[in-house]
Amino acid sequence: MIEQQLWHPVIASHQVREAPVACALLGQPLVLWREQGHDEHRVHAWADQCPHRGARLSLGRVLIGLHGARLECPYHGWQFGGAGRCQHVPAAPDFVPPPAHCANVFEAQERHGLVWVRLRPPAAQPLAAGLSEPPAFAPGDDPAWRTVLCGPYELNTSAPRLVENFLDLSHFGFVHEGWLGERGHAQVQTGTVEEGVDGAGLVVRDARAWQPRAYAGADEGAWIAYRYEVPHPFAAVLRKDATAGDPVSNAIALVIRPDGHELCTAWFVMATQGDTSTDQELIAFQDAVFAQDRPVVESQTPRALPIGRSAPVTEVHGPADRVSSAYRRYLNRLGIALGTC
Ligand code: FES
Ligand code: FE
Repeated sequence: MIEQQLWHPVIASHQVREAPVACALLGQPLVLWREQGHDEHRVHAWADQCPHRGARLSLGRVLIGLHGARLECPYHGWQFGGAGRCQHVPAAPDFVPPPAHCANVFEAQERHGLVWVRLRPPAAQPLAAGLSEPPAFAPGDDPAWRTVLCGPYELNTSAPRLVENFLDLSHFGFVHEGWLGERGHAQVQTGTVEEGVDGAGLVVRDARAWQPRAYAGADEGAWIAYRYEVPHPFAAVLRKDATAGDPVSNAIALVIRPDGHELCTAWFVMATQGDTSTDQELIAFQDAVFAQDRPVVESQTPRALPIGRSAPVTEVHGPADRVSSAYRRYLNRLGIALGTC
């Protein structure tokens, strides 16, 4: 299953502090914990099951000692080092645990204020370019931009439905009327769509939509040009650059943890330059916009995105749906089964 070979965001980094935290990815219960050393803040993601008698490691605690950081199981107090190996069995202190006394360790790293986990290394067949790491998000990595994390948003729909909504400019005038669009200016330009070869993602240049208030401080509407990228089947980036009349550059990455076929958790990583709003104001704006999307997106049936994987697609398309059609082809090329039908 290719989904297990991809990196997925599982939790905001700031939620993993001194205590272990429980989480789940693709049905796999995880314990996340952090090594708090002098300059070591590494995050670990393991199966949330002690190799001794199966207790949940997330009920345990992190011990910091001379030997470094260890995760202590809540049941018999076995201590596990950062690589997952058991280092100490309190009931038999002279026992030297063999290598098999080891937690089930997954790859984990932090990116864009989130912890990303991959459940399985890529199989023999190499993954498409760009999928062997968490998606890059150019301005999000640039300290000259201010980055704000919004979410998590738990949603009763599939991750692909949510990505498709994010790529869809033609709902702005209706779902976000007065905010991101206007009913009387509903026409959009889908721009040029580049579909990567060999499973690489999409790039959409010069997509245009009318915005009633293009940026904070603007007093009239304007056509706004957007650039979209889909670097990962469950992530997309929208970018709007400053122009002569508009001092604000924005890039918003939607990243999603697929929680099942019809369930997902999303975050937005917003990177801005030239925006004078506070972090709290940016988050409140994103919360409000997302609250407008939620009822419509959760109302879509089927919740899995019809890409023709298991049945002919019964949804019909209009000329403004070119980007969503390209996204569906991308999922098909990659063989994404989770959240599609
Ligand atoms: Fe974890 Fe026994 S179940 S130490
Ligand atoms: Fe929307």
